[in-house]
Amino acid sequence: MTPHINAKENAFAKTVLMPGDPLRAKFIAENYLENVSLVTDVRNMFGYTGEYKGNKISVMGSGMGIPSIGIYAYELFKFYGVENIVRVGSCGAYSKDLNLYDIILAQGACTNSAFQENYKLPGTFSAIADFDLLLSAYNNAKNLGITVHVGNVLSSDVFYQDDVDAWKKWQSMKVLAVEMESYALYAIAANLGKKTLTILTVSDSLITHEETTAEERQTSFTKMMEIALNL
Ligand code: ADE
Repeated sequence: MTPHINAKENAFAKTVLMPGDPLRAKFIAENYLENVSLVTDVRNMFGYTGEYKGNKISVMGSGMGIPSIGIYAYELFKFYGVENIVRVGSCGAYSKDLNLYDIILAQGACTNSAFQENYKLPGTFSAIADFDLLLSAYNNAKNLGITVHVGNVLSSDVFYQDDVDAWKKWQSMKVLAVEMESYALYAIAANLGKKTLTILTVSDSLITHEETTAEERQTSFTKMMEIALNL
């Protein structure tokens, strides 16, 4: 048991899929996994372990933002023997090349958060995905006939930004999209010698102001899950 996870030792698989929403974790467990059991429910941040094609796999909500995923990822890696965390989330598009429902493999993550100060580095930490997971996700997508975009994302600490044009600076650096968690996930994995990847579905666009409905997100979500579950 850890302060935020009330699972027994060895309750988690080596690989944990992490959507932001704990009810999405429940949905994944109930619809994609077999022999599922609920392993943690502190603060209703549900975590499940089950099997996919005979392999043990877990799924747990991360909550929103760097502090939240930072807590859960650290405890899973450090105290539950987890080796791989694959975030499956949504993002807002910065790139003109992205349409709603497109899928991004986050090769790297920039941030406006102070998270890296935790590590007292004498410079700037570049947060990157694990190459094996990235390559495997890319190949899975190719084999499944799913188009993916691979590149940098911004993990923002602020959803409702006061300067409404600030995102254009990131766009000018070819950052594809914004979300709120990957930088911390990647940094924690680097620090603890673990593996991580973020797979994102575009849920809205900063350029066109289009947004997806919850219902419509289901189809693209299925594609993202196929990539993640077959890693
Ligand atoms: N996740 C999905 N859309 C987002 C946005 N526009 N900003 C931050 N995180 C997001």
